[in-house]
Amino acid sequence: MKFFLDTADIGEIEKGLALGMVDGVTTNPTLIARQGKSYLPTVREIAQLVPGPVSGEVLSTELDPMLDEAHRLAELADNVVVKLPLTPPGLQAARTLTEEGIRTNVTLCFSPAQALLAAKAGATYISPFVGRLDDISEEGMALIEQIVTIYEQYSFETQVLVASVRHPMHVVDSALLGADVVTLPFKVLDKLYAHPLTDKGLAGFLADWKKTGRSFDD
Ligand code: G3P
Repeated sequence: MKFFLDTADIGEIEKGLALGMVDGVTTNPTLIARQGKSYLPTVREIAQLVPGPVSGEVLSTELDPMLDEAHRLAELADNVVVKLPLTPPGLQAARTLTEEGIRTNVTLCFSPAQALLAAKAGATYISPFVGRLDDISEEGMALIEQIVTIYEQYSFETQVLVASVRHPMHVVDSALLGADVVTLPFKVLDKLYAHPLTDKGLAGFLADWKKTGRSFDD
């Protein structure tokens, strides 16, 4: 399973890459706005830093300007994946871009029917938002199970990219269900490492050796 970082923060991306756990990055307009920087230059900067796929989202909602922005995003670097909203123009754009050999990530997916449409449009990735479904008392992970089942049934090549991830169990459940990718806020990646018994065990090992009064070489 691939781990993408869901951020436009260069510092977080550098830390994630140094940990060796980051296979790609996803951004959205909110995440880029939070950095207070220009839009396209930020996507370019991230794409130059990250070896794997970097999703940059269009801002237009009509087909022609959406395609224009998609081409400008794709021209930034070979690893840029064009993120498109799950709307009729977004899926029309996904089909056109796929035919042109440009990778796409269809975002804001909240139902299995929407995921089926994205696969039929030839999207490279579908991004179901699990956290935002949990927020309205729906089961975010149930949507992932449905999409994985449907995609397997028809051998769709569209990859399931679990988004709006809020905590480690979203990651574990995604892995159990066979999702292709999870995109994580840096704080969730950090939490995946944590276990109190690891900390306690390490402290015990080191304390026991310290009692001997000997060093590493001794
Ligand atoms: O990048 C899209 C998605 O991951 C946003 O997550 O936490 O704003 O619902 P969130």
